[in-house]
Order: sequence, then C-alpha cells, then structure tokens
Amino acid sequence: FAGNNSEFLKGVVAMSGLPPADRLEVCFAGRSNVGKSTLINALTGRTRLARASNTPGRTQEINYFTLADSHYLVDLPGYGYANAPLAVVEKWQRLLKQYLSGRATLRRAFVLVDSRHGIKAVDDEIMSLLDSSAVTFQVVMTKVDKVKDKDLEKVMGQVRERLAKHPAAFPEIVLTSSEKGDGIANLRAIIANLA
Ligand code: GTP
Ligand code: MG
Repeated sequence: FAGNNSEFLKGVVAMSGLPPADRLEVCFAGRSNVGKSTLINALTGRTRLARASNTPGRTQEINYFTLADSHYLVDLPGYGYANAPLAVVEKWQRLLKQYLSGRATLRRAFVLVDSRHGIKAVDDEIMSLLDSSAVTFQVVMTKVDKVKDKDLEKVMGQVRERLAKHPAAFPEIVLTSSEKGDGIANLRAIIANLA
C-alpha cells in the first residue's frame, strides 16, 4: 500500500450517503460478533478505528474506512443476531441489496465465518445474494485462536462443501486471528493485489 494512513470516513445509512466511487473498495460481511470490526482494526493497525464490542449488532451503519489512500474498507452491519426488530432487518436487507448490486468499485466481499461455528443458514443467504449480485466473495475464517486444529479441519470441510454451491465464491479461504495476528498480512496482501 502507498502510505499507511487509515481513518474512519463516515457511517452510511442510505445509498445517497455513499462516498464518491473513486477508489477500490472491499467490504466485510458476517454474522454479528464474528469479528468484522476487530479485523478491520487489525488490517489497519489501529486498535480502535472500527468500534468492536461484545454487544451484538453494535455496527448498524455501513462504515467507511480509508486504507492508505487507495482503498475503502467497508464494515457492514452484522446480520443474524436474535432480537433484531423485523423493521430494522428489512431496512438493512434493502440497503445491502442496493449496495451490493450498485457499487461499481466494489472489488470483493469478504464473508467472515467464525472458526468455531462454520457457515450458518444466514451466511448462505448472504452468499446467495452475492452470487446474484455477481460480487466475488472470499471467506475469511475468524478467531482461529479459539479452536483446536482438529476441530478447525472439520469446520473447514463444511465450509468447502458449502462454498462449492456458490458460483461467486473465490476458492481460497483465509484463516485469521485478529487477536494473535495470524493471516492478517496475507489478507492485506490479497487486498493490495486486487486491481
Ligand atoms: P457486529 O458489529 O455486532 O456485527 O460485530 P463484529 O463482527 O464487528 O464483531 P467485533 O469485531 O465487534 O468482535 C466481537 C467480539 O469478538 C469482540 O469481543 C472481539 O474482541 C472478539 N474477537 C474478534 N476477533 C477475534 C479473534 O481473532 N480472536 C478472539 N479470541 N476474539 C476475537
Ligand atoms: Mg462491528
């Protein structure tokens, strides 16, 4: 990356609020609490840039961050948490569909999957939405520090099996721990190499 400065740009609640589409963009999707905000912090090397929390559903807006001066990192609101009011869920789904199908500079979506849990039904739904929006997506396993190798292998088997059904899935899966730093440099390189 050219330069190393990252900053929070803005939170967006409607398509009209998106920043100008003037650079490459990647987004981070995943169930609430999977570790999206923490991963963005690890990628940018800033501990409190994206607000991470133990309260599921903390990130309600589409949050834009700059990475160097060349990329946008987009933190999407987490999905699949219990107790979310239906109206909120529907509003979010509408915005997500508009965003995924209408953002020309979006190069790749990273779908985060908890290494302990594997792909859930709600993840499958998002992946199908990405298929139909023709947005290439890549799975990033999070919190690998929390699982034993043997259990991770089992979960990875399930993930590969599910991914085979999604035409927009990028085959390589990235293993990460934002806590320990595993896979972060690899993911940075993947993003830097997107053209
Ligand atoms: P929402 O904004 O609600 O959608 O959640 P999120 O996906 O942004 O999750 P967030 O980054 O807030 O992380 C949720 C919790 O998981 C926090 O307590 C993090 O500290 C923890 N966490 C995130 N990544 C890791 C990791 O790699 N290892 C461990 N052990 N914990 C992690
Ligand atoms: Mg978050």
